[in-house]
Amino acid sequence: MSFATADYRVTLGGKPILKGLAVEATQGRTLALLGANGAGKSTFMKGLCGLTKAQGSATIDGIDLLSATPVVRAQLIGYVAQDLAHLDVRLSTYELLLLAQQGSSRGWATGKDAQRKASEMLELLGLQRFAERQPGELSGGERQMISLALALVRSPRLLLLDEPTSALDLANQLQILEAVSTYTRQQNIVTLAIFHDMNLASRYADDTLMLHHGHVHCSGPTRTTLTPENLAQVYGVDCRALSVDEGTYTAIYPVSVLESMRGQAITTA
Ligand SMILES: Nc1ncnc2c1ncn2[C@@H]1O[C@H](COP(=O)(O)OP(=O)(O)OP(=O)(O)O)[C@@H](O)[C@H]1O
Ligand SMILES: [Mg+2]
Repeated sequence: MSFATADYRVTLGGKPILKGLAVEATQGRTLALLGANGAGKSTFMKGLCGLTKAQGSATIDGIDLLSATPVVRAQLIGYVAQDLAHLDVRLSTYELLLLAQQGSSRGWATGKDAQRKASEMLELLGLQRFAERQPGELSGGERQMISLALALVRSPRLLLLDEPTSALDLANQLQILEAVSTYTRQQNIVTLAIFHDMNLASRYADDTLMLHHGHVHCSGPTRTTLTPENLAQVYGVDCRALSVDEGTYTAIYPVSVLESMRGQAITTA
Protein backbone atom coordinates (compact mmCIF):
# COMPACT_ATOMS: atom_id res chain seq x y z
CA MET A 1 0.00 0.00 0.00
CA SER A 2 1.31 3.47 -0.85
CA PHE A 3 -0.71 5.15 1.89
CA ALA A 4 -1.73 3.51 5.15
CA THR A 5 -2.75 4.49 8.63
CA ALA A 6 -2.63 2.25 11.69
CA ASP A 7 -4.39 2.91 15.00
CA TYR A 8 -4.91 6.51 13.81
CA ARG A 9 -6.55 8.49 16.60
CA VAL A 10 -7.64 12.09 17.15
CA THR A 11 -9.19 13.51 20.32
CA LEU A 12 -10.74 17.02 20.24
CA GLY A 13 -11.99 18.89 23.28
CA GLY A 14 -11.49 15.74 25.37
CA LYS A 15 -13.73 13.72 23.04
CA PRO A 16 -12.37 10.86 20.90
CA ILE A 17 -13.30 11.70 17.31
CA LEU A 18 -11.26 9.07 15.43
CA LYS A 19 -10.83 5.89 17.44
CA GLY A 20 -8.03 3.88 15.83
CA LEU A 21 -8.43 3.90 12.06
CA ALA A 22 -6.76 1.54 9.60
CA VAL A 23 -7.07 3.25 6.21
CA GLU A 24 -5.33 2.01 3.07
CA ALA A 25 -5.06 3.67 -0.32
CA THR A 26 -3.26 2.71 -3.50
CA GLN A 27 -1.26 4.97 -5.79
CA GLY A 28 -2.92 5.86 -9.06
CA ARG A 29 -6.35 5.60 -7.44
CA THR A 30 -8.84 7.97 -5.83
CA LEU A 31 -10.36 7.00 -2.49
CA ALA A 32 -13.65 8.66 -1.46
CA LEU A 33 -13.89 9.38 2.26
CA LEU A 34 -17.55 9.40 3.24
CA GLY A 35 -19.55 9.83 6.44
CA ALA A 36 -22.20 12.01 8.05
CA ASN A 37 -21.67 15.62 9.19
CA GLY A 38 -19.34 15.56 12.16
CA ALA A 39 -18.07 12.03 11.43
CA GLY A 40 -14.46 13.24 11.49
CA LYS A 41 -13.61 13.37 7.77
CA SER A 42 -12.01 16.83 7.85
CA THR A 43 -10.34 15.96 11.14
CA PHE A 44 -8.76 12.92 9.46
CA MET A 45 -7.19 15.13 6.79
CA LYS A 46 -6.15 17.89 9.20
CA GLY A 47 -4.31 15.30 11.30
CA LEU A 48 -2.32 14.19 8.25
CA CYS A 49 -1.38 17.80 7.46
CA GLY A 50 -0.36 18.53 11.06
CA LEU A 51 -3.18 21.05 11.55
CA THR A 52 -4.64 18.81 14.29
CA LYS A 53 -2.74 16.50 16.61
CA ALA A 54 -3.13 12.84 15.62
CA GLN A 55 -1.73 9.66 17.18
CA GLY A 56 -0.83 6.28 15.73
CA SER A 57 0.80 6.19 12.33
CA ALA A 58 0.09 7.42 8.81
CA THR A 59 2.60 6.59 6.10
CA ILE A 60 3.03 7.59 2.47
CA ASP A 61 5.70 5.62 0.60
CA GLY A 62 6.93 4.37 3.98
CA ILE A 63 7.43 7.89 5.44
CA ASP A 64 5.50 8.46 8.67
CA LEU A 65 3.66 11.76 8.28
CA LEU A 66 2.89 12.09 11.97
CA SER A 67 6.54 12.18 13.01
CA ALA A 68 7.74 14.07 9.89
CA THR A 69 8.73 17.73 10.07
CA PRO A 70 6.23 20.33 8.81
CA VAL A 71 8.51 20.92 5.81
CA VAL A 72 8.49 17.24 4.82
CA ARG A 73 4.71 17.03 5.26
CA ALA A 74 4.27 20.11 3.09
CA GLN A 75 6.46 18.54 0.40
CA LEU A 76 4.45 15.32 0.36
CA ILE A 77 0.90 16.60 0.76
CA GLY A 78 -1.35 18.76 -1.42
CA TYR A 79 -4.40 19.89 0.56
CA VAL A 80 -7.61 21.59 -0.52
CA ALA A 81 -9.34 22.61 2.70
CA GLN A 82 -13.10 22.79 3.29
CA ASP A 83 -12.73 26.41 4.46
CA LEU A 84 -10.82 28.52 1.94
CA ALA A 85 -10.65 31.81 3.90
CA HIS A 86 -6.83 31.61 3.84
CA LEU A 87 -6.91 32.42 0.11
CA ASP A 88 -8.01 35.98 0.86
CA VAL A 89 -4.58 37.54 0.24
CA ARG A 90 -3.43 40.43 -1.92
CA LEU A 91 -1.61 38.30 -4.51
CA SER A 92 -2.71 37.16 -7.94
CA THR A 93 -3.45 33.52 -8.72
CA TYR A 94 -0.29 33.38 -10.85
CA GLU A 95 1.87 34.84 -8.07
CA LEU A 96 0.42 32.32 -5.62
CA LEU A 97 1.19 29.47 -8.03
CA LEU A 98 4.83 30.60 -8.20
CA LEU A 99 5.04 30.99 -4.43
CA ALA A 100 3.52 27.55 -3.84
CA GLN A 101 6.41 25.92 -5.70
CA GLN A 102 9.13 27.27 -3.41
CA GLY A 103 10.68 24.23 -1.74
CA SER A 104 8.15 21.81 -3.23
CA SER A 105 8.79 18.06 -3.55
CA ARG A 106 10.84 18.63 -6.70
CA GLY A 107 13.26 20.83 -4.81
CA TRP A 108 13.64 24.54 -5.34
CA ALA A 109 12.14 25.42 -8.69
CA THR A 110 13.99 27.83 -10.96
CA GLY A 111 12.05 30.90 -12.09
CA LYS A 112 11.47 29.53 -15.61
CA ASP A 113 10.40 26.06 -14.43
CA ALA A 114 8.02 27.54 -11.89
CA GLN A 115 6.48 29.85 -14.50
CA ARG A 116 6.02 26.99 -16.96
CA LYS A 117 4.45 24.79 -14.31
CA ALA A 118 2.13 27.55 -13.08
CA SER A 119 0.91 28.08 -16.66
CA GLU A 120 0.51 24.34 -17.26
CA MET A 121 -1.59 23.97 -14.12
CA LEU A 122 -3.88 26.85 -15.09
CA GLU A 123 -4.32 25.23 -18.50
CA LEU A 124 -4.91 21.74 -17.08
CA LEU A 125 -7.78 23.04 -14.97
CA GLY A 126 -9.01 25.58 -17.52
CA LEU A 127 -8.27 28.52 -15.19
CA GLN A 128 -6.11 30.75 -17.42
CA ARG A 129 -8.61 33.61 -17.18
CA PHE A 130 -7.97 33.91 -13.43
CA ALA A 131 -4.16 34.20 -13.63
CA GLU A 132 -4.05 37.92 -12.86
CA ARG A 133 -7.02 37.97 -10.47
CA GLN A 134 -6.74 37.79 -6.68
CA PRO A 135 -8.55 34.71 -5.29
CA GLY A 136 -10.14 36.87 -2.57
CA GLU A 137 -12.05 38.70 -5.31
CA LEU A 138 -13.35 35.55 -6.97
CA SER A 139 -16.53 33.53 -6.43
CA GLY A 140 -16.61 30.55 -4.06
CA GLY A 141 -16.42 28.03 -6.90
CA GLU A 142 -13.60 29.88 -8.68
CA ARG A 143 -11.67 30.02 -5.43
CA GLN A 144 -12.18 26.28 -4.91
CA MET A 145 -10.67 25.53 -8.34
CA ILE A 146 -7.69 27.80 -7.65
CA SER A 147 -7.12 26.04 -4.34
CA LEU A 148 -6.87 22.77 -6.30
CA ALA A 149 -4.36 24.32 -8.73
CA LEU A 150 -2.25 25.45 -5.75
CA ALA A 151 -2.30 21.93 -4.29
CA LEU A 152 -1.34 20.25 -7.59
CA VAL A 153 1.38 22.69 -8.64
CA ARG A 154 3.53 21.42 -5.77
CA SER A 155 3.55 17.86 -7.26
CA PRO A 156 2.24 16.14 -4.10
CA ARG A 157 2.51 12.41 -3.43
CA LEU A 158 -0.69 12.55 -1.38
CA LEU A 159 -3.58 14.77 -2.49
CA LEU A 160 -6.22 15.55 0.15
CA LEU A 161 -9.44 17.11 -1.13
CA ASP A 162 -12.04 18.19 1.43
CA GLU A 163 -15.32 18.48 -0.50
CA PRO A 164 -13.47 19.83 -3.58
CA THR A 165 -16.61 20.36 -5.66
CA SER A 166 -19.03 21.62 -2.98
CA ALA A 167 -19.16 25.08 -4.61
CA LEU A 168 -18.90 24.03 -8.28
CA ASP A 169 -21.57 24.08 -10.98
CA LEU A 170 -22.44 20.91 -12.89
CA ALA A 171 -19.94 21.38 -15.72
CA ASN A 172 -17.09 22.27 -13.38
CA GLN A 173 -17.86 19.31 -11.08
CA LEU A 174 -17.34 16.96 -14.02
CA GLN A 175 -14.33 18.77 -15.50
CA ILE A 176 -12.48 19.19 -12.23
CA LEU A 177 -13.04 15.63 -11.02
CA GLU A 178 -12.11 14.27 -14.45
CA ALA A 179 -8.87 16.29 -14.27
CA VAL A 180 -8.16 15.05 -10.73
CA SER A 181 -8.71 11.38 -11.54
CA THR A 182 -6.62 11.60 -14.72
CA TYR A 183 -3.83 13.42 -12.84
CA THR A 184 -3.96 10.83 -10.04
CA ARG A 185 -3.60 7.98 -12.53
CA GLN A 186 -0.96 9.58 -14.73
CA GLN A 187 1.23 10.89 -11.89
CA ASN A 188 0.59 7.71 -9.86
CA ILE A 189 -0.21 9.67 -6.69
CA VAL A 190 -2.66 8.81 -3.90
CA THR A 191 -5.81 10.95 -3.78
CA LEU A 192 -8.27 11.03 -0.89
CA ALA A 193 -11.44 13.04 -1.50
CA ILE A 194 -14.32 13.84 0.85
CA PHE A 195 -17.75 13.95 -0.79
CA HIS A 196 -21.35 14.49 0.26
CA ASP A 197 -22.54 13.92 -3.30
CA MET A 198 -22.81 10.14 -3.66
CA ASN A 199 -23.13 10.35 -7.43
CA LEU A 200 -19.77 12.07 -7.75
CA ALA A 201 -18.19 9.51 -5.42
CA SER A 202 -19.80 6.73 -7.45
CA ARG A 203 -18.47 8.10 -10.72
CA TYR A 204 -14.97 9.30 -9.82
CA ALA A 205 -13.75 7.30 -6.81
CA ASP A 206 -12.06 3.99 -7.52
CA ASP A 207 -12.38 3.05 -3.85
CA THR A 208 -14.67 4.18 -1.05
CA LEU A 209 -14.35 4.28 2.73
CA MET A 210 -17.16 5.20 5.13
CA LEU A 211 -16.47 6.61 8.59
CA HIS A 212 -19.04 6.01 11.31
CA HIS A 213 -18.89 6.52 15.09
CA GLY A 214 -15.15 7.15 14.88
CA HIS A 215 -14.43 3.85 13.10
CA VAL A 216 -14.08 2.59 9.53
CA HIS A 217 -17.54 1.16 8.79
CA CYS A 218 -16.55 -0.29 5.40
CA SER A 219 -13.94 0.15 2.70
CA GLY A 220 -13.13 -1.35 -0.69
CA PRO A 221 -13.82 -0.82 -4.39
CA THR A 222 -16.58 1.76 -4.85
CA ARG A 223 -18.87 -0.56 -6.80
CA THR A 224 -19.04 -3.05 -3.91
CA THR A 225 -18.84 -0.54 -1.03
CA LEU A 226 -21.12 2.33 -2.05
CA THR A 227 -24.23 0.19 -1.56
CA PRO A 228 -27.73 1.00 -0.26
CA GLU A 229 -27.01 -1.27 2.73
CA ASN A 230 -23.92 0.68 3.81
CA LEU A 231 -25.62 4.03 3.08
CA ALA A 232 -28.57 3.02 5.28
CA GLN A 233 -26.26 2.03 8.13
CA VAL A 234 -24.01 5.10 7.93
CA TYR A 235 -26.46 7.87 6.96
CA GLY A 236 -29.78 6.36 8.07
CA VAL A 237 -31.17 6.98 4.59
CA ASP A 238 -33.02 4.60 2.33
CA CYS A 239 -31.26 4.82 -1.08
CA ARG A 240 -31.59 3.13 -4.45
CA ALA A 241 -28.66 2.29 -6.71
CA LEU A 242 -29.70 2.83 -10.34
CA SER A 243 -27.95 1.72 -13.49
CA VAL A 244 -27.34 4.60 -15.94
CA ASP A 245 -26.35 4.23 -19.60
CA GLU A 246 -26.55 0.46 -19.50
CA GLY A 247 -24.38 0.10 -16.44
CA THR A 248 -21.69 2.63 -17.40
CA TYR A 249 -22.54 4.58 -14.22
CA THR A 250 -24.32 3.80 -10.98
CA ALA A 251 -26.52 6.61 -9.66
CA ILE A 252 -27.47 6.80 -6.00
CA TYR A 253 -30.99 8.12 -5.36
CA PRO A 254 -31.84 8.95 -1.73
CA VAL A 255 -35.51 8.09 -1.11
CA SER A 256 -36.16 8.90 2.55
CA VAL A 257 -34.68 9.13 6.01
CA LEU A 258 -35.20 5.80 7.75
CA GLU A 259 -37.89 5.74 10.45
CA SER A 260 -35.32 4.88 13.12
CA MET A 261 -33.41 8.11 12.36
CA ARG A 262 -36.33 10.57 12.28
CA GLY A 263 -36.21 13.42 14.77
CA GLN A 264 -32.83 12.34 16.10
CA ALA A 265 -29.96 14.75 16.45
CA ILE A 266 -27.52 13.33 13.94
CA THR A 267 -24.23 13.06 15.77
CA THR A 268 -21.89 10.38 14.66
CA ALA A 269 -18.48 11.07 16.14
N1 LIG B 1 -11.53 22.25 17.63
C1 LIG B 1 -12.46 21.37 18.00
N2 LIG B 1 -12.75 21.13 19.30
C2 LIG B 1 -13.69 20.24 19.66
N3 LIG B 1 -14.38 19.49 18.78
C3 LIG B 1 -14.16 19.69 17.48
C4 LIG B 1 -13.17 20.63 17.01
N4 LIG B 1 -13.15 20.58 15.65
C5 LIG B 1 -14.08 19.67 15.30
N5 LIG B 1 -14.67 19.13 16.38
C6 LIG B 1 -15.71 18.09 16.38
O1 LIG B 1 -15.15 16.95 15.77
C7 LIG B 1 -16.16 16.26 15.03
C8 LIG B 1 -15.65 15.99 13.63
O2 LIG B 1 -15.53 17.22 12.91
P1 LIG B 1 -15.11 17.24 11.39
O3 LIG B 1 -14.98 18.66 11.00
O4 LIG B 1 -13.94 16.36 11.20
O5 LIG B 1 -16.39 16.56 10.70
P2 LIG B 1 -16.66 16.23 9.19
O6 LIG B 1 -16.84 14.75 9.06
O7 LIG B 1 -15.65 16.87 8.31
O8 LIG B 1 -18.10 16.91 8.99
P3 LIG B 1 -18.72 17.79 7.76
O9 LIG B 1 -19.25 16.77 6.78
O10 LIG B 1 -19.82 18.54 8.42
O11 LIG B 1 -17.66 18.69 7.20
C9 LIG B 1 -17.41 17.11 15.10
O12 LIG B 1 -18.29 16.55 16.04
C10 LIG B 1 -16.91 18.46 15.57
O13 LIG B 1 -17.88 19.10 16.36
MG1 LIG C 1 -15.66 18.46 7.04
